[in-house]
Amino acid sequence: MGQVNERAVAEHYGNDHLRTRIFEAISQAGLDLLNLEPVDLAPIDEFHMGGRAATAEIISSMGLSLNDRVLDIGCGLGGLVRYLAGEIGCRATGLDLTPEYVALSREFTALTALSDKADFVLGSALALPFEDEAFSAAVTFHAGMNIADKATKYREAFRILRPGGKLVIYDVLKGPEPGLRFPVPWADTPDTSHLADADEMRRMLASADFTILVEQDRTPLVLKHHRARVAEMSAGTPPPSLGLHLLQGSTAKAKSENMIAMAEAGQIQLGLFVARKS
Ligand SMILES: C[S@@+](CC[C@H](N)C(=O)[O-])C[C@H]1O[C@@H](n2cnc3c(N)ncnc32)[C@H](O)[C@@H]1O
Repeated sequence: MGQVNERAVAEHYGNDHLRTRIFEAISQAGLDLLNLEPVDLAPIDEFHMGGRAATAEIISSMGLSLNDRVLDIGCGLGGLVRYLAGEIGCRATGLDLTPEYVALSREFTALTALSDKADFVLGSALALPFEDEAFSAAVTFHAGMNIADKATKYREAFRILRPGGKLVIYDVLKGPEPGLRFPVPWADTPDTSHLADADEMRRMLASADFTILVEQDRTPLVLKHHRARVAEMSAGTPPPSLGLHLLQGSTAKAKSENMIAMAEAGQIQLGLFVARKS
């Protein structure tokens, strides 16, 4: 079941000649591949609500320095990993189970001259291919929604962290009201969607032995982010060439409309947790 689910998740994300479409869009956006800056890719490589601004805000609150070694679990196209390597200057590793994303992450990292500080590994959050205590911090943004066995994910995160290391989780959660609508950005059907509510998150983190330092409800950002996307898609003018629509396909608008409806109805929340390995 676990592997079947992971294959289905990878098929959801690694769709449809992704590399060709992304490089065509980069060229249409007028970007020069020989002088690409990490920020140029932000319209596409920050696949979470709030984009690069959310990354900057959350990472700055972690107090990281050059000496840190950080793992991003479910790194997507690697925007957060390049942010860590480029802006903080620390060593960062991204892990993801979608082969197309890992390949693009490596290519983007080489094009932005960050390969000496950032690397990428194809693998599962449920069996991290790293030694115990290999990292001083870990982050995971908008990846838990595809993972049924989050208890194992957090135990694995605990194992690879050094004592005192922080884990930051930024995820869509189940809200107080029942029911979900599909498609959503992380799944076309309920088969690969696995949301936990805030209580379940607290219990899973505690049973992995984490201490929760911060818990925030960021649900208003769901409305802000997806209303802006729907307005852009309804405007009748073509979207900017480089954008999340390349990752979300022909149902991008329905996905954003469902996110708005579910946030308004209390069916989903957006949560941020900072936990520490004591
Ligand atoms: C919505 S994307 C977010 C990507 C990235 N964190 C970001 O914020 O731009 C979710 C990512 O989680 C990855 N993912 C889902 N389940 C995973 C698992 N069990 N192990 C590793 N990666 C996983 C997917 O392949 C996908 O790249």
